Amino acid sequence: MASRKGRILVTGAAGFIGSNLSRMLLEEGYQVVGVDNLSAGTAENLPSGIEFQKADIRYPFSMTSALKGVDAVFHLAAKNCLLDCLQNPEETVATNVQGTVNVLEMCRAHGVRRLIYADSSAEYEGINQFPSKEDAVCPIGTYAVSKRAGGLFCDSYARLHGLELTTLRYFNVYGPAQDFRRVVPPVMSAFIMKLLAGEDPFIYGTGEKRRDFIYVDDVNRFHLLCLNDRRTVGHVYNVGSGTNFSVNEIFTRIEKMLQSGRRPIYRPALPGEAEITLADVAAARQLGWEPQVDLDEGLRNTIAYLRAKMSREAAASKH
Ligand SMILES: NC(=O)c1ccc[n+]([C@@H]2O[C@H](COP(=O)([O-])OP(=O)(O)OC[C@H]3O[C@@H](n4cnc5c(N)ncnc54)[C@H](O)[C@@H]3O)[C@@H](O)[C@H]2O)c1
Repeated sequence: MASRKGRILVTGAAGFIGSNLSRMLLEEGYQVVGVDNLSAGTAENLPSGIEFQKADIRYPFSMTSALKGVDAVFHLAAKNCLLDCLQNPEETVATNVQGTVNVLEMCRAHGVRRLIYADSSAEYEGINQFPSKEDAVCPIGTYAVSKRAGGLFCDSYARLHGLELTTLRYFNVYGPAQDFRRVVPPVMSAFIMKLLAGEDPFIYGTGEKRRDFIYVDDVNRFHLLCLNDRRTVGHVYNVGSGTNFSVNEIFTRIEKMLQSGRRPIYRPALPGEAEITLADVAAARQLGWEPQVDLDEGLRNTIAYLRAKMSREAAASKH
């Protein structure tokens, strides 16, 4: 049965942000259709109630039926591990640029006029002024340039075809369901999993790089706001907390919560990682949005999620 609130397509629905977003949309009474090729996301992440189609945005016709009757699209599917993107530029362009064009073309073909594009704070990596404001970007690395190119195509479809576009530049999003199968998993999940497993975690570089961390539910509350607030059409918003912490500080906080007695092992810095990220969130705040989950609460939620997941997996491996 069609939902009165609307039918929403989430690309990348089995991934970290997409699965949490899909769950929130379903809780709010939307009908949700999700596509994902499960290259990074997992079927386990998918919330119950979602209509899921395994589809690959590199091959537009695999998405055809998912777009029928859709009122708005959250385009989140992407390759987004910096190291992976750096090592595989062709794959990155195929997914993040051609894949985005494919999603845009499918929207045009099916008369879908509203799209929210998942952009990244990586767009600011060549600008050494903080906090980062939305008006100037300078992408350098493969990932950042691919997100820029995808974003430029979205802008083009807005101008040429009347697409109602909102672009969101997420900073370091964290919380349950992050992809920890990566070679270099996201920092918080990596620390928590190692400490829960009784192992020493790795810190790449000195640990003094500072990151603006934002909890996934706060990001998704902003997604919902965008869906319902026409003022966001045609605009770009930073989605961060407006404060930042060093990687060493994050380790200390998590260690204080888990009391594992473990110490980090320092490894050489990874290529292409920014020294500092810090969002200017004035534009998002003007719409009435505020981050609601502070770092300690967000970390406790993430720890609880990973503890439950690891004990389920340990129990399953005994059978
Ligand atoms: N997590 C962050 O901190 C962050 C920061 C800035 C921007 N972003 C952007 O947010 C979006 C979601 O990121 P995330 O952290 O949830 O990542 P994620 O890797 O968990 O989710 C991305 C999803 O896209 C899917 N996917 C990849 N290639 C695909 C393809 N060809 N066809 C269909 N599905 C495909 C993956 O399987 C995965 O489930 C991405 O566009 C990313 O660039 C994330």
